[in-house]
Amino acid sequence: MNKILIAPSILSADFANLQSEIERIEKAGADWVHIDVMDGHFVPNLTIGAPVVKGIKKATKLPFDVHLMIDAPWKYIPDFVKAGADIITIHQEACVENLSEVIAQIKSFGIKAGVSIKPKTSVDAIKDILPEVDMVLVMSVEPGFGGQSFMYESLPKIKELRSLSHNLDIQVDGGINADTAKLVIEAGANILVAGSSVYGAKNIEEAINSLRG
Ligand code: DX5
Ligand code: ZN
Repeated sequence: MNKILIAPSILSADFANLQSEIERIEKAGADWVHIDVMDGHFVPNLTIGAPVVKGIKKATKLPFDVHLMIDAPWKYIPDFVKAGADIITIHQEACVENLSEVIAQIKSFGIKAGVSIKPKTSVDAIKDILPEVDMVLVMSVEPGFGGQSFMYESLPKIKELRSLSHNLDIQVDGGINADTAKLVIEAGANILVAGSSVYGAKNIEEAINSLRG
């Protein structure tokens, strides 16, 4: 079983103080920084783009885990690589025609590639490309906003993916707190994204540790 990694999402951070908000999770033991990029088309919300990613790269040595919730991600991948992404995750639903090519594009820059599925997308939709990706991200909320409730329907999908591969990194994103973390780890996930339960906590170090199962 792969090591459990915690990737706090800066979507729930104080955007007026991103540098110190990232330093705070680094000190508290976070493994990765999860960065949610939204375009107002693929999801009904807008967040940040490559210039902000570049700006905050200076704040930390932690790997940048960039989650692209955008249409036509292939147009923007080079910008996020230049900005300092260490892993880029794209959505299957945004690359139905060219998923394999987009994964190859990400890997051509020498960084890791992840593929994500929304709650209504089945594991079948990505089964064939599993050997090509470094990570699968199972969304456990409809992408677009932090602070939503965990969808239990994601658990069988995590189990199915784990049964297909022992070594695959399986990430879960949405509604992760100390209780749901236990369930997703039991199902086979090993990388946990958490926004509100980390940044909303009184003691951020305790919150991160409580997610490790
Ligand atoms: C949702 C984003 C998540 C979000 C998670 O579309 O992909 O990364 O920040 O937030 P919480 O942990 O609050 O559900
Ligand atoms: Zn995310």
